[in-house]
Amino acid sequence: MSYRTHHCAQLGVSDIGTTVTLSGWVNSRRDHGGVIFIDLRDREGITQVVFQPEAHAEAAAAAHKLRPEFVVKVEGEVVRRMESTANHKIATGQIEVVASRLTVLAESEVPPFPLDDPAVNEDLRLTYRYLDLRRPEMLRNLRLRHRIVKTVRDYFDTQDFVEVETPILSKSTPEGARDFLVPSRLNPGHFYALPQAPQQYKQLLMVAGVERYFQIAKCFRDEDLRADRQPEFTQVDVEASFISREDILGWIEQLIADIFKKSLDVQVPVPFERVPWQQAMDLYGSDKPDRRFGMLLTDLGSIFTGTEFKVFRGALDGGGVIKAINAKKLACITTGQIEELTTMAKQYGAKGLAFIKVENGEWKSPIVKFFTEAEKQALTQAMQIEEGDLILFGADKWETVCEVLGRIRLRVAELLGLLKNSSEWNLLWVVDFPLLQYSPEDSKWNAVHHPFTRPKSEDMPQLEAGEFGRVRAEAYDVVLNGVEIGGGSIRIHESSLQAKMFGILGISEEEQKAQFGHIIEALAFGAPPHGGIALGLDRLVMLLAGATSIRDVMAFPKNNRGQELMNQGPSPVEPKQLKELHIQLRSAQ
Ligand code: AMO
Ligand code: AMP
Repeated sequence: MSYRTHHCAQLGVSDIGTTVTLSGWVNSRRDHGGVIFIDLRDREGITQVVFQPEAHAEAAAAAHKLRPEFVVKVEGEVVRRMESTANHKIATGQIEVVASRLTVLAESEVPPFPLDDPAVNEDLRLTYRYLDLRRPEMLRNLRLRHRIVKTVRDYFDTQDFVEVETPILSKSTPEGARDFLVPSRLNPGHFYALPQAPQQYKQLLMVAGVERYFQIAKCFRDEDLRADRQPEFTQVDVEASFISREDILGWIEQLIADIFKKSLDVQVPVPFERVPWQQAMDLYGSDKPDRRFGMLLTDLGSIFTGTEFKVFRGALDGGGVIKAINAKKLACITTGQIEELTTMAKQYGAKGLAFIKVENGEWKSPIVKFFTEAEKQALTQAMQIEEGDLILFGADKWETVCEVLGRIRLRVAELLGLLKNSSEWNLLWVVDFPLLQYSPEDSKWNAVHHPFTRPKSEDMPQLEAGEFGRVRAEAYDVVLNGVEIGGGSIRIHESSLQAKMFGILGISEEEQKAQFGHIIEALAFGAPPHGGIALGLDRLVMLLAGATSIRDVMAFPKNNRGQELMNQGPSPVEPKQLKELHIQLRSAQ
């Protein structure tokens, strides 16, 4: 005897009069003076089932014992609901099933939280993740993720890419985030590292002649966690040979367009705009600009060349810049909110956050007394200042001003509720990132992307001349609604240039041999020109699902302390296990 003839979102008026079998969970139960109604739920939806004591006494008696989350099988006849009880919001809302037989397949404890309460504490949801996942929006997220992964595989297959799996037990190398280490029982004192990304393997596959590779790859990074970061996450990892940057960008644009079409039935226009990093920073103060709203950073250097306001004077004399944003209609901001913005600005390195409020035709500001009439006029024009505006200034080194005003711009957009009702999908490429960034803490140059990224050929003279800060990389990020959903680059394929790059990064020849010997050697055996990209699958799914955390699109995520609350991992292990691994703990657990 089968468990079901239909699923719980399938029956409609055309099925009236037929006898059906449904199986699923009791979503809710209502007792209307002997007549019992249950909403029966499976992964597809809900069907109302009614138990009538006069018609089917045995089933109705059994229905009294039903509680939420019991698993049941129901047989019965599909009938039309009385118009007064019809629910036109759901597909099955005009019918109900009059149960003639009820089988309880499994009972359930009282769930630790009501499954239909969206405000449940996340720790509780993660502890009982298998219950949390029963909620329709969580099941919908899992299925959206499936749809997207399927689209990825289908797309790359049509483009002749080969899916290749690469090792999870790998080797630690000193670039990027912190590694997760796994002790080797067979090699005392030696450790595997879990891959932060399959970067080296995919390049080695190019040396191997695979030409077009992709993988749905698990990556592991021991970082501090945030809403869009997990220690274990998934990339759509891609690499190809004998291609240019435009080939990679074109493939990814088409893939993303396919994903939008197949999962949301939304047509996103391709190609996406390519914005140089310098311009993204200049105008939006971010390398992942959210362009669903304006509020651009405006440079005011030319207006204030003769300024006597010491903050502005100091910035210009020190080779820095003066920039501002116009937060339209935010002159009503409270003193507390201004203080919050100022604290935030200081957190990102600013010395202060000068402002002008335009209220009742007046400029209210601690700094306008330092401005000349001509400066005021030029400022009004440059910033298009009107009644009700709030102008926020940054004056410092270019990098600091961009970073600070970029953050303030996003916070102001939040305060103004600019994105609350946005249904826009804003996609763009940020290209031409800097290759290297100087770290004053480490007194050395670090790779902005990773050490395998190719310098732009136009900028090779600067690299040769040691002007590392002026060298741009053949690197690109793809950004969706202000979130970096992927990044990649054209690679160095010559062993000499790769060794030079390691040298610039302060990795000695000895360390190069020990850590990266295999890759320098491989590049010496005829490496084709190649490049690639990795998309952050979790972030992409999160945005398409309308979720605010990647945890909501992962079946079993970790909390922000890196713990899996359901099974209490990570956990202590038996002394015997440690002994086998040649590990002695410093303090007793
Ligand atoms: P990158 O480090 O930029 O590049 O990673 C690629 C994309 O992966 C996503 N991502 C994350 N998602 C969730 N949690 C995390 N902790 C996390 N870290 C990164 C982001 C990011 O854009 N091997 C290179 C790619 C290449 O050069 O081909 C790499 O890993 O969306
Ligand atoms: P001060 O003269 O230091 O009191 O600063 C006057 C105003 O300018 C205050 O509103 C400060 O918050 C602001 N301010 C100070 N330094 C900066 C800076 N580097 N960029 C922008 N505003 C600043």
